[in-house]
Amino acid sequence: MHKDIKNIVMSEEEIQTICKDLGEQLTKDYQDKPLVCIGILKGSVMFMADLIKRIDTHLSIDFMDVSSYHGGTESTGEVQIIKDLGSSIENKDVLIIEDILETGTTLKSITELLQSRKVNSLEIVTLLDKPNRRKANIEAKYVGKKIPDEFVVGYGLDYGEHYRNLPYIGTLKPEVYS
Ligand code: IMP
Ligand code: MG
Repeated sequence: MHKDIKNIVMSEEEIQTICKDLGEQLTKDYQDKPLVCIGILKGSVMFMADLIKRIDTHLSIDFMDVSSYHGGTESTGEVQIIKDLGSSIENKDVLIIEDILETGTTLKSITELLQSRKVNSLEIVTLLDKPNRRKANIEAKYVGKKIPDEFVVGYGLDYGEHYRNLPYIGTLKPEVYS
């Protein structure tokens, strides 16, 4: 285990089981409609890579980069588009892939923006959900795991751009923040 990690919240095995289960569900739900998977950079890249391998339907991928955190552990509530989609999503069945849903500020802004582009359908899959932190009126249809209100890193999730490369998800030791 990495020296800065206090405890593991989701092991590599658990992550793979969740991807397999969500993939099976999405395969069923999108059997008859080509799917556009939109990864929200950068945190969702690992989850997206593992999840789409488990979705056995016609799909394409795209990415969007927004910023709401500015390096700390508290959301500022402001969302800025850094990179927009490469193609039109008009009349498409769209699935947003996120690493974690917390206050919901980020996903609320993204869903409003994508809805305005006249999609046929729009759903969200998130690996992690911190329901106790929610401020915006938004829920994900597909959730990997609900976790308590604690800051986590690894498997794409960062603290000041570090720890994204850990293959598991865990909490940080208190001394890391000081
Ligand atoms: P929200 O807008 O508050 O829902 O925040 C969503 C974004 O904040 C996620 O996409 C993450 O990038 C970041 N975030 C929220 N909680 C955590 C955490 O525990 N660790 C790392 N990043 C987090
Ligand atoms: Mg993110």
